[in-house]
Amino acid sequence: MCHVLILAAGKGTRMKSAQPKVLHRVAGAPMIDYVLDASAALAPETTTVVVGHQADRLRAALDGRPGLRFVLQEPQLGTAHAVAQAAPLFAGVPGTLIVLSGDVPLLTADTLRALLARHAETGAAATVLTAVVDDPSGYGRVVRNGDEVAAIVEHRDATEAERGIREINAGIYAFDLAPLFPALARVAADNSQREYYLPDVAALYRRAGRRVAALAAARPEEILGINTRAELAATSERVWRARREALMAAGVTLEDPAATYVDAGVTVGPDSVIAPGVSLLGRTTIGARAVIQAGVRIVDSQLGDDVTVLDHCVIAGSRLDAGASVGPFAHIRPGSAVGPAARVGNFVELKKTRLGAGSKASHLAYLGDATIGEKVNIGAGTITCNYDGAAKHPTVIEDEVFIGSDSQLVAPVRIGRGAYVAAGSSITRDVPAGALAIARGRQENKEGWVAMKKARAAAEKKE
Ligand code: UD1
Ligand code: CA
Repeated sequence: MCHVLILAAGKGTRMKSAQPKVLHRVAGAPMIDYVLDASAALAPETTTVVVGHQADRLRAALDGRPGLRFVLQEPQLGTAHAVAQAAPLFAGVPGTLIVLSGDVPLLTADTLRALLARHAETGAAATVLTAVVDDPSGYGRVVRNGDEVAAIVEHRDATEAERGIREINAGIYAFDLAPLFPALARVAADNSQREYYLPDVAALYRRAGRRVAALAAARPEEILGINTRAELAATSERVWRARREALMAAGVTLEDPAATYVDAGVTVGPDSVIAPGVSLLGRTTIGARAVIQAGVRIVDSQLGDDVTVLDHCVIAGSRLDAGASVGPFAHIRPGSAVGPAARVGNFVELKKTRLGAGSKASHLAYLGDATIGEKVNIGAGTITCNYDGAAKHPTVIEDEVFIGSDSQLVAPVRIGRGAYVAAGSSITRDVPAGALAIARGRQENKEGWVAMKKARAAAEKKE
């Protein structure tokens, strides 16, 4: 039986931020999301988050996570004090409590499982996750007594000799629930920060004759804590790097891996080529042999095989079918679908618009709330006037329609199959299938007008 408690009440002073530290993003996702995901993999009986600094903001941000419990720590008097706030939730509850820090995002579920296994096999009252690192500065040092932990000393309270210890406390623990809360009540704030330190439980247990075991993490980089913006950037970089390496291993060419940003769960098919400065975010999937040129941002979108996205496009919440081509400089807004082999050219904006197979909008257009059939040609400068100041209206363009350049389609309006709209038209009524619609001022040519004007001007000058 295991329960999870995540500490996230601290101010994160060193971040110098008005935002709760654990909401700062590591490679695109709030750092606490990583901790919640890793602990969820243990299928714990309960998961509780200790909130305090900016508690409401943090609670609101975690609203979408079902089943989370919250306890408020106010004021924040240290990590032992934080855990102690959860005492009422665990009165009389048996089992093991895993304590995690909201600011240690790279921890994996495997490491947590290993921690639980070590805790069970040693029968210790507490088991501390540790790591041996080259630069232990800032972390609590683990003072060993053979296999057991004798004490944990915070960096700022450590002696010169203790600072030489390279085994650090990860801030991640397994505790037997029964003795924990009585022990927390005995933790004193007799340290340089006048805070109640959770790691002090180690020395208290030792004095009380209880065993404190340790598990050294197999990959020390997993337990990196984030306290500063520089650590945030360095941790993000590790995550981005791992994702880029996974993409390359799956057969994707990254022309400049360091300048490619990929969210967790994004998939790209083999033989796709991704240029520098590309961000593939959210729930995005891309098929095989896609070409994604420089400076493209794709969010929550599905791209089929053989799709081409030319430089500097933004694509969000949309679908591009096999062989479609978009850009350069196109904006595909949510709810849009570009059909197979369809083409969207430069300076074209789509919003909630479906462009059928083989259709083209090659230059300078705004197509909003439009359903466009197959093999349609949308001329340069076409605009769907979809908004009347109060409501949005649909435009339907049936198969094989030709819309001449610089036309306005005032919605709601329907252009029937195979119809032509003459260039420069303002279409305000439906166009029947097969018809030609011309809706513009009729042209008049005044023969000889220029010469006449010049002659008149010359005559006036002489007078
Ligand atoms: C802590 C450990 C240190 C360990 C390091 C690993 C203590 C005293 N020290 O130090 O031994 O090496 O983590 O990363 O625990 N928090 C609260 N309420 C509080 C104070 C903190 O909820 O009153 C939360 C913070 O939001 C954070 C976590 O506890 O998520 C750790 O606090 P932090 O101040 O970052 O501790 P460190 O100095 O990093
Ligand atoms: Ca920390």
